[in-house]
Amino acid sequence: MIRQNQSLLNYNTFHIDAVASSFVEVTDYRDLISLRNSEPFDNYSWLVMGGGSNILFTQNPDVPVVKVAIPGISVATSPSNSDDIMVTDGAGVNWHDLVVWSLANGYFGLENLSLIPGLVGAAPMQNIGAYGIELTDVFDSLIAFDIASGELKTFSHDDCNFGYRSSVFKTELKGRYVIVSVTMRLSTKPNLKLEYGDIRAKLAEQNIENPTPLDVSNTIVAIRQSKLPDPAVIGNAGSFFKNPEIGTDHFETLKSAYPTIPGYLTTPGKIKVPAGWLIDQLGWKGFRDGDAGVHAKQALVLVNHGSATGHQIYALAKKVQHQVYQSYQIMLEPEVNII
Ligand code: EPU
Repeated sequence: MIRQNQSLLNYNTFHIDAVASSFVEVTDYRDLISLRNSEPFDNYSWLVMGGGSNILFTQNPDVPVVKVAIPGISVATSPSNSDDIMVTDGAGVNWHDLVVWSLANGYFGLENLSLIPGLVGAAPMQNIGAYGIELTDVFDSLIAFDIASGELKTFSHDDCNFGYRSSVFKTELKGRYVIVSVTMRLSTKPNLKLEYGDIRAKLAEQNIENPTPLDVSNTIVAIRQSKLPDPAVIGNAGSFFKNPEIGTDHFETLKSAYPTIPGYLTTPGKIKVPAGWLIDQLGWKGFRDGDAGVHAKQALVLVNHGSATGHQIYALAKKVQHQVYQSYQIMLEPEVNII
């Protein structure tokens, strides 16, 4: 059912009170076929939303909004490897519910991606990642609806062109497809990744010597809860900016001015620098201007303490971006989708 003038307040984790002039919630991909013939969706220009956990509305969307809520989880064994389990999820499945479900069933590989807000359909869009794992590591394929032709298309791993917080759906094919379902390759054999940050230290604190995937998941949940604001309590969309990559020469220049600057080599000649560190060094942590602020425990996360407008949060982001540029000659790029 198409709704007019739908408030998006409860559909975005920044809790911005934007309004969609036309809005529809889709629970079956076949509804997308008929939607193509309904005004104003019949111009094939839609804003497709999942959980609204990576979006900042600085204005009302100027196109109709499709909220994807396609449910369902199904499981198959892999034809090529008997330890592998192919799990296919509707795009509307809640990501963390999937992680919990997979662990309860003994299908491993998602534990480091615990407690990421949002829905399954958005995971490949931006190649979600945390604690040393990205979606690309477990992704098999997906089915997407081509808005212009009304047909379904299967995308292989290669077709998606995954990068750091990026995919073909965020770049060349932006706005052209609705992701309907995603298939991931999980395993009945744990293969734990414990190298990132303080995972090992946190496990040791709990005297866990031989962690299970559930231990890793619980530990990551605890780390996230200690640093990142719960969107149900304080509006936010996780990291606001991407961690920038700079040339090694640039990094060396910065290192002589800021000897403690962290950075790690990604590709030859390129060093990734934590944006949170850069922002934190400039004293932004806990900054607040009205209801727009910088999270007190993680400088990379901008927050809405109550009734900030998207415009106010964006203005704060611009100030942070400007000061980071002035200080380090690094232009931060938003990770969040800005409307
Ligand atoms: N740091 C500071 N001060 C801060 C924040 C970070 O000094 O206020 C330093 C930390 O001490 C650490 C480094 O920066 O040395 C990295 O911090 P952290 O491990 O918290 O991760 P991040 O680089 O800020 C990235 C992802 C997160 C993901 C974490 C964990 C991006 C843009 N963000 O954040 O993803 O959860 O790593 O893997 O890559 C998201 O995408 O929304 C998100 C939360």
